Amino acid sequence: MNAAIRAATLIARAAGVDVVGIERGWRGLLDDAFVPLATQDVQGILREGGTVLGSARCKEFHQREVRDHARAVLTRRGVDGLVVIGGNGSLTGAQALADPNEAGDKPPLVVGVPASIDNDLGLTGLAIGVDTAMNTIVEACDKIADTATAHDRTFIIEVMGRDCGYLAMTSAIAVGADLALFPEAGKAEDKIVDQIVNTVLAVRKRQQKRARRVLIIKAEGVSMPVERMKAAVDAKLRERSPDAEPSSIETRVTVLGHVVRGGRPSAFDRLLGSRLGNVAVRALLGGMTHKMAAWMSPAEVPASAGARSPYDPHCWLVDLQAVLAETEILIAGKSPLARWRAGAFEEIEDALLL
Ligand code: F6P
Repeated sequence: MNAAIRAATLIARAAGVDVVGIERGWRGLLDDAFVPLATQDVQGILREGGTVLGSARCKEFHQREVRDHARAVLTRRGVDGLVVIGGNGSLTGAQALADPNEAGDKPPLVVGVPASIDNDLGLTGLAIGVDTAMNTIVEACDKIADTATAHDRTFIIEVMGRDCGYLAMTSAIAVGADLALFPEAGKAEDKIVDQIVNTVLAVRKRQQKRARRVLIIKAEGVSMPVERMKAAVDAKLRERSPDAEPSSIETRVTVLGHVVRGGRPSAFDRLLGSRLGNVAVRALLGGMTHKMAAWMSPAEVPASAGARSPYDPHCWLVDLQAVLAETEILIAGKSPLARWRAGAFEEIEDALLL
C-alpha cells in the first residue's frame, strides 16, 4: 500500500497538486486526522510493509449522517479528490461517500486502488498484497516441508482468506502441495475429511518407504475448524491403517494467520502498487470519479464497465459500482471467475497428487 501512496503523492505533486494523507482510513477522516504528504514524506516508504497511514475498521461509515460529517470535513479541508486504497469495505465507503444522491452537486471525486491479500475484489486480476502474502506462504511451507519430509508427516497449513480461497489455491500450486481446501468448493465436513484421508493414503501407497510427506493447504474460509479437522482425520487414518504406528499417521497443524499479512512487500507488489497508484491519481487529475484502478482483469470487462488506462497498458479503470457488484458474487462463490477457479481445481486435483 505504501507504494501506491508514494506513487500517487509523487505524480500529483509533479502536477502541482497539494497532497494530504488521511490516517486510519474512514475513521481518521471522521477524526480530521490529516497529515501533509510532501516528496520527502514518501521517499523511503516503498520498502515498508503495511501502510504508513494506518488502517482501521469503521462500521459507522454505513450511516448517512456519519458520511455527511465526513463530506463536511473534506469541504473544510479543501479536498477535491480521494485515492482510496483498500478492500471491499473501503471501496464501498468510497462509493457511498461520493454518491451524488446524498453528496449534492459537488461530490468529492473518488478513485479506488484494490488492496487485499485475499484477492477477493471483482474486476481486477490482482490486488496489492496478494503477491507478498503468497511469497510468505511459500517460504513458510518450504520450511514446514523439511520437517514433513524428514518425519514422513502430514501437515495441514491454514492460510488467510475469509471468503475467498485464492491464496490457498495458488500457494498450493506454488508449494507443490498435495491438496488445497477452499470455501468455493462448498464441501461438507465428512467429504473434506475423506478427501484428506484418501490423499494421505495415496501418498503413503505411492511412496512406500521414504518422503511420505503430505502438505495440505486449507483456506481460513473453510468453516471446519482446523483442530476438529485434525482429530477427525487422525481417527479415520487409524481406522483405515490399523497396523500403522499411531505416531506415523498423526497429522500436524500450522495456522499461519497474520504472519501472512505483514512483511516487506515483494518486488512485484511494489511495482503493482506504484502502477495502480499512478493510474488512479492520473484518473483523478483528469476529473474521473467512481472508478477503481485495476490490474488486468482475469474475466471479461464489459465495455460499459471500464476501459484501459491511457497511462499503463496493464491497468484498467473500471466502474466502482460494477467492482462492488462483482465482488459480492465473487465472495459468495457465485461469479463466473469463482466458479472457474473451483472447477479448474477440481480438474487438477488428481494431478496435484502425482
Ligand atoms: O484482509 C482480509 C483478511 O486478511 C482475512 O483473510 C482475515 O480473515 C482478516 O483479514 C483478518 O482480519 P483481522 O486482522 O481484523 O482479524
